[in-house]
Amino acid sequence: MMPERENILTVERLKAFYGKSQILFDVDLSVGKGEIVALIGRNGVGKTTTLMSIMGMVEKRDCRILFEGEDITERKPYQIARMGLTFIPDRGGVFPNLTVEENFALSLREGYFTPDYVFEHFPQVRGLLKRKGGQLSGGERRLVGISRGLLTNPRLLVIDEPSEGLAPAIVREIAGVLSHLKKEGLSMLITDQNLPFIMALADRIYIMDNGQIKVSGSKEELPREVIEKYLAV
Ligand SMILES: Nc1ncnc2c1ncn2[C@@H]1O[C@H](COP(=O)(O)OP(=O)(O)O)[C@@H](O)[C@H]1O
Ligand SMILES: [Mg+2]
Repeated sequence: MMPERENILTVERLKAFYGKSQILFDVDLSVGKGEIVALIGRNGVGKTTTLMSIMGMVEKRDCRILFEGEDITERKPYQIARMGLTFIPDRGGVFPNLTVEENFALSLREGYFTPDYVFEHFPQVRGLLKRKGGQLSGGERRLVGISRGLLTNPRLLVIDEPSEGLAPAIVREIAGVLSHLKKEGLSMLITDQNLPFIMALADRIYIMDNGQIKVSGSKEELPREVIEKYLAV
């Protein structure tokens, strides 16, 4: 028998509700150590709700969530974050009224990823330090958001739509940053709708529609037409 890959995150039978309406229906997903897993699907299918449920940020939900073998289902968002599960929301999660430097200071936790690491590998960031979060372009905000997440020294980075609204050249740059981090062994769960971006990065893909996982598999085993069908508007 093949040894089972060790999971860093396991989500079982996730149901989520906003008020009386059910948004997610028995979502099962996992992220292996060192993997990049993509959760894809059209606008409104439930991707952000899935990520926020994992982070403990959705009040009405029913599921079981294991992170590094520990049951975190009932933990508070700040406890989950402290365990090294870092969420980067879809606009980057950068405080607009603070400088980039101040944003970094709030996130910094001891570990392998230091400000010097960020400046060395993503040199543009150094030039942005004195700028306010609110003055960054979409691409800069993304880069700063990912850097900020990295400075928490995460065990798992959860990133909501990293390529959304960015020009193709910037999307390639962000893909380069994330594939560099994958080489460092970082595990990631990302949502997105940009097919070339997903194909360049993801090891495994879950396709969501109407709050359910419809198809999943490795990038190689999922037929392109199937992926395109669920992403098409
Ligand atoms: N705070 C909220 N209150 C009520 N309904 C919401 C809320 N956030 C999202 N929804 C609804 O939940 C569904 C899933 O949304 P979301 O998880 O944001 O999808 P996605 O990230 O895939 O675009 C959508 O129908 C959306 O309108
Ligand atoms: Mg979303």
